Amino acid sequence: MRPSAQFRSAQEILETLVSSEMSLKVLINWGRQNRFAGSKDRRKIRDIVYYCLRNKRYLLHRWSNKESKGDGRNLVLSFLYDHYHNDHLTDFNIFFGSRDFDLQLLSDTERNILSNKSLKREAIREDPVKYSYPDFLDKSLKRSLGKDFSKIMELFLKRASVFIRANKIKISTKDLTSKLKAEGFEIEPQIKNRDALKVLNASNKLKLSKHFSEGLFEFQDLGSQQVVNNIVVKEGMSILDFCAGGGGKSLALASHFSNNIELYAYDLNSSRLKPFKIRAKRACAKIKFLDDRMLFGKSFDAVIVDAPCSGSGTWRRDPFTKWNLTLSEINKLTEIQYSILNQVASYVNKSGLIFYITCSLLDEENGEVISRFLKNNNDYCLEREQFISPLEGGDGFFLSILKKNK
Ligand SMILES: C[S@@+](CC[C@H](N)C(=O)[O-])C[C@H]1O[C@@H](n2cnc3c(N)ncnc32)[C@H](O)[C@@H]1O
Repeated sequence: MRPSAQFRSAQEILETLVSSEMSLKVLINWGRQNRFAGSKDRRKIRDIVYYCLRNKRYLLHRWSNKESKGDGRNLVLSFLYDHYHNDHLTDFNIFFGSRDFDLQLLSDTERNILSNKSLKREAIREDPVKYSYPDFLDKSLKRSLGKDFSKIMELFLKRASVFIRANKIKISTKDLTSKLKAEGFEIEPQIKNRDALKVLNASNKLKLSKHFSEGLFEFQDLGSQQVVNNIVVKEGMSILDFCAGGGGKSLALASHFSNNIELYAYDLNSSRLKPFKIRAKRACAKIKFLDDRMLFGKSFDAVIVDAPCSGSGTWRRDPFTKWNLTLSEINKLTEIQYSILNQVASYVNKSGLIFYITCSLLDEENGEVISRFLKNNNDYCLEREQFISPLEGGDGFFLSILKKNK
């Protein structure tokens, strides 16, 4: 596809996303309906769409109260202008054309709006516009992130890096690195996290590598790996992953302990465990899956609660969630988080631990839920709390470790 057609496609996808359904399904459906588009075109279109969603408010800001031919067009025009207009190597005109499937030529009004310097990011005063997030989260984000607010929000406008985790049940991180490098992948070790590797090129081809189907590694964000490194348990302990979902945390634990750990997995929505079971088989991870009947009456030395949350720590990777979030949704989530904690409290052995995890930046879902739980459960005390900042390279995570006294 020519650039003008790629940008026209991105415009149409964004139009649907902004005006009717903010969901990954829109991109998937576009792919199904436009099979002529090759994999490179799809990747390019996806990158444009994701960038525009991450930066939506800022990119649309210059168009307010001015001539508008729709949000989809405004988003891609702002994107193009910011990326290529001053790039002397690219002829700006290649992005436009007059055929039906081209991005339509710029009007004079559009050209004037785009070149207005006072509308550039540096000149914007309102943080929710500059850093593109909903107004209602302004106070909460500032309160939760403190002095790192601007740095984190700025980082969240850019694309996330791709990380994998060596599966120590099958291979060492060093040997995996050599194997992947021999296949042409550029791999960067992570000093603070021995099992994590950053993939610098061709990450889309990694899933096709035989090393992936052989279970030598898994895709897992750095922040998610870091949070698991802080789950301090010992060999021989029984551990329940209560919100197991796709199994990211359990698989990392099984790998870390080379299966020398008694690991159980449960999820309220048992269908969410299906991909986990496939991943566990591929990794040769020893995990016992429990249903409600099997869980009844059992107790464990540690329970991991990777709670359903706003996902605000993963906005770079999933910018759709940023625009779907509402205040009432956050309130609903905090009630669910609190009720899950109360539920698991009875599954913990004496002197046992609860590891409460979210991938949220917001204090409402993190420290506040823990404070409320501790206030009403005096048999528990706080051992340690940790925020894994996106400034460390991965998604943002919160971890609170609670100990049962009685
Ligand atoms: C953040 S996801 C878990 C991600 C997973 N641990 C991972 O690392 O891939 C939260 C999970 O909690 C589950 N869940 C929601 N409400 C629950 C409840 N009341 N009890 C148990 N699981 C619940 C959801 O089905 C979802 O799979």
